[in-house]
Amino acid sequence: MKTEIEKLNLEAIDDKIIAKAAAIIRDGGLVAFPTETVYGLGADAMQASAAKKIYEAKGRPSDNPLIVHIADVSALRNLTDEVPGKAVKLAKAFWPGPLTMIVKKSAAVPYETTGGMDTVAVRMPNHPVALALIAASGTYIAAPSANTSGRPSPTTAEHVMTDLNEKIPLILDGGSVGIGIESTIIDLTEETPMILRPGYITQEMLEEVIGEVHVDPGLIASDSLQKPKAPGMKYRHYAPKADLTVVTGEKKDVIGTINYLSHTGISQGKKIGIIATDETAGEYRCGDVISIGAREDEDAIARHLYGILRKFDDLDVDTIYSESFESEGLGQAIMNRLLKAAGHHVLQAVQEKKMKAYD
Ligand code: TXA
Ligand code: MG
Repeated sequence: MKTEIEKLNLEAIDDKIIAKAAAIIRDGGLVAFPTETVYGLGADAMQASAAKKIYEAKGRPSDNPLIVHIADVSALRNLTDEVPGKAVKLAKAFWPGPLTMIVKKSAAVPYETTGGMDTVAVRMPNHPVALALIAASGTYIAAPSANTSGRPSPTTAEHVMTDLNEKIPLILDGGSVGIGIESTIIDLTEETPMILRPGYITQEMLEEVIGEVHVDPGLIASDSLQKPKAPGMKYRHYAPKADLTVVTGEKKDVIGTINYLSHTGISQGKKIGIIATDETAGEYRCGDVISIGAREDEDAIARHLYGILRKFDDLDVDTIYSESFESEGLGQAIMNRLLKAAGHHVLQAVQEKKMKAYD
């Protein structure tokens, strides 16, 4: 199957292109489209056979449920029989936006969409192309991130093309996404709502609107015996091809340790990639160094992370060393994705004094 890319001008969205994409969705086909978080791979959420095609194209395990995207809050009433009061409050505060809510599913939602679960994940994305497509399709759109399973989520149409060329008929190209990491997922079926995946909407922001919110304990401990509650969070997602190690510690120790390890690796014939920040990029002496942005600019760090992991795939590096980031606020989501990409491989930087002994 030939994969077509249609470029859209976000200021003046071409209705004809949207109508073509909506027709594919209604016919049970797949369309990749931009959202404000990452690109999604969409199909009609209410057609069991359409949702199945998503799993095939991505090579995704079919027990991993999909997020249903809506263009109007009233759609919640068709997807669940009991709209929780907290869902209404959160929708008012954060929709359209990077928040996914889990509620009990209504009979209308096929089990193929929910990976066999009795709950459904719902989100109203804040992107003009996504909203136009959902509205024009006259249905709701199930969409996981538009990457091959196990690869970093796509933040440009080119990333989608790399992974899904010849597997889907159409990609809507809306340029680079704004946020760059997937939505926050909150489970509202629990007595106390629980964050199953951290994202741009933080625990503090949620608590301001609905009071106490827990964080899935399976997310925090890397070696926890506790399984994450979102089935997708248990897989080694977001993985680059190279081995990735996150180095923590004082700035100068981190630079010293990464320089030492990179030098050692290169002398053994390895190709090394380094994820640096604007403040440190000039201090690395070897390897392919890419800055993820200024350390205090968490929005930029989130936006650049997946693209950099893909860039290192293109450069065919064997090993990547990354600096570590604060894990408060948006930093919690950034570190969650980075540590998952690293398979939780973390190294404490060696202090400079001790480092001298190696010289
Ligand atoms: O930002 C996003 O959320 C993007 C864009 C395209 O909207 N979508 C996305 O979808 O990240 P995906 O499929 O890559 O991740 C969905 C996550 C998975 O970890 C899945 O297990 C979890 O949501 N999930 C979906 N439905 C669930 C449910 N009923 N109960 C628990 N977890 C659920
Ligand atoms: Mg995904």
